[in-house]
Formats: sequence, C-alpha cells, structure tokens
Amino acid sequence: MYNILLQNDSETPIKNKSPSESSADVTVRMFPSDANPAGNVFGGEILKHIDMVAGIVAQRHSQSNAVTVSMDSVNFIKPVFVGNVLKLNARINYVHNSSMEIEVRSEAEDIITGIKTVTGTAFVTFVGLDKNGKPKPVPKLLLKTDEDRTKFAEGKIRMENRLKHRKKI
Ligand SMILES: CC(C)(COP(=O)(O)OP(=O)(O)OC[C@H]1O[C@@H](n2cnc3c(N)ncnc32)[C@H](O)[C@@H]1OP(=O)(O)O)[C@@H](O)C(=O)NCCC(=O)NCCS
Repeated sequence: MYNILLQNDSETPIKNKSPSESSADVTVRMFPSDANPAGNVFGGEILKHIDMVAGIVAQRHSQSNAVTVSMDSVNFIKPVFVGNVLKLNARINYVHNSSMEIEVRSEAEDIITGIKTVTGTAFVTFVGLDKNGKPKPVPKLLLKTDEDRTKFAEGKIRMENRLKHRKKI
C-alpha cells in the first residue's frame, strides 16, 4: 500500500538533476531514550537518521520508491550526547543505472554553548524501484561544479569496490 503512494506513474520523463537539487538537511533533538545511561547517543539511533536523510535524497532524485541496499564507511568520529541537536546533511554523489550513492555527514550542536562538532560520516547506497518492486533506471546526475565532478569520480570507484565485495545469496 505504501509503495503505491511513492510511485510516479506520469508519462512525463523524470528529469536529470544536479546533486544540489536533491540534497537534504535534517535536524533532530537527542533525548534520554536515544542514549545509554552515561548520556551517549546509541550508534543505531544515529544510523536510523543517516538512513532516513539519505532516503530523502534518493527519493527526491529518483522521484520513485527507493530502498537501502548498503551502508559503508560509517564513522562515528565524536560522541553525540543527550540534549544535543543532531544535524544531518546528505547529498548524492554517484548514479549508475538504478543505484545511487548518497554521502551523509552528521554534526552535533550543543545549543547552550553553540559549539558544533562533526560527529560522523557514511555512504549509503539506494536502489530505485518500479511499482513491482524491481530495480528501475533513475535519472542521470548533472555535474555542474568541480565538487560534483570530483565526488562523482570518487563515488564511481567506491561503487566498483562495493560491487566486488557484494554478497549474493
Ligand atoms: C533492491 C533489490 C530489489 C535489488 O535486487 P537485486 O537482485 O540485488 O538487483 P540487481 O542485482 O539487479 O541490482 C540492482 C542494482 O542494485 C545494485 N546493488 C545491489 N546490491 C548492492 C550492494 N550491496 N551495494 C551496492 N549496490 C548494490 C546493483 O549494482 C544494481 O545497480 P545498477 O542498476 O545501478 O547497476 C533487493 O536487493 C532488495 O529488495 N533488497 C532489500 C532492500 C531493503 O528492503 N532495504 C531496507 C533494509 S532491510
């Protein structure tokens, strides 16, 4: 049922987009239920938000349903504490056929002191799906800036490495 809501059945082709057209920022407050007794936010809680913000980017780019197929290079660089504001920024780096590499960067803000700390980075691969739940081609990436071109080239290398180690069952 939910899938149906995410399908774009319009005859109009979906336009190619630059990374800036699909990028997303999400801000969430961390509460005691998100953390261990010492006040450190669980890695899994942060991962949930990483997956969610990356999903916004993937669905904005593809204008279709899209699902996570892999997460890698997840680095928790600094702790996030109860009371912090967690800010996540996500952008699309690379598109192949149905697959998309999304880069997520997270930052914790202590709203009392105003200090902002980069706390994590990750790459999430999403795949665009058609209404039957099968992979479908997604729009191409329009590379407008030097950063877009560099990140696309780096994303291509990472995707090739990912696929070398992909587990098929
Ligand atoms: C997405 C899904 C339908 C793809 O099925 P599949 O049989 O792997 O399809 P394919 O082999 O044709 O691969 C489709 C694309 O996914 C990419 N892909 C699949 N697994 C991948 C992985 N682990 N890492 C990176 N890319 C991957 C392929 O390279 C291909 O990309 P391309 O079209 O750009 O060339 C299937 O893997 C699935 O349903 N997974 C569960 C998704 C989900 O529920 N996620 C939420 C978390 S449980």
